[in-house]
Amino acid sequence: MNDFSFQSPTRFVFGRGFCDRCGDELATLGAKRVLLVFGGGSVRHAGTLARVEASLAAAGIECVELGGVRPNPELGLVRKGVSLARERDVDLVLAVGGGSVIDCAKAIAFGVPYEGDVWDFFSGKASITSCLPIASVLTIPAAGSEASASCVISNDALSLKRGCAGEVFRPKLAIMDPELTFTLPAYQTAAGATDIICHICERFFSSAGPVPVTDSISCALIRTVMDAASAALENPDDYDARANIMWAGTLAHNDLCSCGRSASYGKRAGGWESHGLEHEISAHHPQVAHGAGLAVILPAWMRHVWRSDVERFLSFAEGVFGLAPADETNEEAERCVERAIDCLQAFLVGMGMPATLTDLGLSPADVDAWIETLSQNKGESFGELQTLTMDDARAIYLSAF
Ligand code: NZQ
Ligand code: ZN
Repeated sequence: MNDFSFQSPTRFVFGRGFCDRCGDELATLGAKRVLLVFGGGSVRHAGTLARVEASLAAAGIECVELGGVRPNPELGLVRKGVSLARERDVDLVLAVGGGSVIDCAKAIAFGVPYEGDVWDFFSGKASITSCLPIASVLTIPAAGSEASASCVISNDALSLKRGCAGEVFRPKLAIMDPELTFTLPAYQTAAGATDIICHICERFFSSAGPVPVTDSISCALIRTVMDAASAALENPDDYDARANIMWAGTLAHNDLCSCGRSASYGKRAGGWESHGLEHEISAHHPQVAHGAGLAVILPAWMRHVWRSDVERFLSFAEGVFGLAPADETNEEAERCVERAIDCLQAFLVGMGMPATLTDLGLSPADVDAWIETLSQNKGESFGELQTLTMDDARAIYLSAF
């Protein structure tokens, strides 16, 4: 087991109807005037926004609204939010939504105390040292941003989607009310489950070798998400299924599954290859849901690299699907790994996720542009289990049509 440090300082307030506790919880954080950030309208239609606002008002907290965050959130609205938060002198940023809304809220929160342009943090020109407190009312379990130390923003003018990381902006509070997710369309439920599974896989397929305690937690979380996602797709109002997906989504990305698996102390585990490859797709085609892109890219990446660590893939096959080679030959081990990857992809497609990039409306002619920005983001090569050159990246993309 490699050395690690782990903190998950977010306070999680989890339960039925807990959306209405938002005001009281924020009052304990000392909030007096919050910037309330939300997306394209789902929270308004579902009545969540009205409930949150009523709860804030009852607790004597003033609120300044900023709606319109799109999926794969864009820098323009972040800049607008920074100005608004300064103008109205808010003391906390509250996201009501999913990963896109929370990431927009995070970028606003660390943009406010910085004198330069907030993109500087994503271009590597500046590092984040201070930040307004952040809280969320989560409405879709997927990105894990409610407890993560990362933030992903698109810059349409540059066709770039970039992440930045920092413990300083891990949210202080996450209100997790699984009933809020009953209204999720099946496609978003499936895309969210895919993202959760991928967050675990990115860490599981690091080069650290076996770490039984973390590996067991990881495989159990993946199995739980698979079962619960199937149940939620069958019955969208299944509270326990929704609750299990929601909590698993947090544990998948708060770095619990990194413990002991990091290549170097203090670093998140894994090479994040599938995320690196996917982010180029949703950067150039913001209509592609992050999880849907991953549903195609994750199996394609696995098929490209599994030969570089057959043992690791065999533990995945056994831990997630209960598959073991029938004998000790290399051929049987290889068949077992290939079966496990097929099972994973069959599960994702069975949930309604795309099988190919063509299913997402993309074309091989798009690949050059993705490689161009991928090399800007990653340099000549990236990855951990197997180093990927830009030729590897191109081969993975093309194999996925
Ligand atoms: O915009 P609205 O109208 O609210 O609709 C949203 C959106 O269309 C809808 N939705 C959310 N909750 C709903 C609902 N519809 C009905 N009922 C509800 N309860 O779902 C759609 C997707 O929302 P979004 O926030 O985009 O989803 P997700 O949570 O998957 O976030 C994706 C973003 O997070 C980034 C991704 O790259 C992408 O930009 N990620 C952030 C990470 C982080 N900060 O740690 C890690 C991830 O790997 C990921 O990269
Ligand atoms: Zn993700």
